[in-house]
Amino acid sequence: MGKNIVLVGFMGTGKSSVGNRLAQKLNKRFIDMDKEIELLLGMTIPRIFKVYGEKRFRSEEKLLVAKLCKQEDCVISTGGGIILEEENLAALREDGVLVRLNAKPEDLWERISRKKENRPLLKKHSSINDMIALMQEREKYYSQAHLTIDTSSKELDQVVDEIISLL
Ligand code: S3P
Repeated sequence: MGKNIVLVGFMGTGKSSVGNRLAQKLNKRFIDMDKEIELLLGMTIPRIFKVYGEKRFRSEEKLLVAKLCKQEDCVISTGGGIILEEENLAALREDGVLVRLNAKPEDLWERISRKKENRPLLKKHSSINDMIALMQEREKYYSQAHLTIDTSSKELDQVVDEIISLL
C-alpha cells in the first residue's frame, strides 16, 4: 500500500476537482474532507459556520485528519484552512505526500467570488485585497508542502498529469 496523496491550497485552487480526477486516474479512493464533514454533521459548510461557528468546524477537521492518517493509498482533498493547525500539517505531511495547488490571486478571486455564499470566510474577507492578505498569512504553511503545482490557465487534466509525473 502507498502513502496518501493530500491536496492542500487556498480556496478555489481546484483541490476537489483535481483530487477526484487524480483518484480516478490512479485508481485510488477519493476523500473530500469538506464533504465528509458535511455528511457527518448533516449540513453544509456555510451552515456549520453559522450554527456552530468556525471553532467547531476546525475541531471536526482535526478529528478527521487523525482518522484519515490511518488510511493508506487514498487521494484526499482538504479544506483551505486545514494547514492552520500545526498538528494537522505535521500529521498529513508525515503520512502522505502533500501536494499544494496554487494559482494567481486574480484567478482565485474570479473563481471564488462568483459563489461567495459557499465560502463563509469570504464574509470576513470580502475584497480581493482581503483575500490576498489571507493568502499571505497562510503562505508559510502552504509552502511546507512537498510539491507545488500552479493551476492558473491550465486544464484539469493538465494539472492532474503534471501531479502524476511529479509523484
Ligand atoms: C476554508 C476553505 C473551505 C472550507 C471552509 C474554510 C478555509 O474549503 O473548508 O469554508 O479556511 O480556507 P475550500 O478550500 O475547498 O474552499
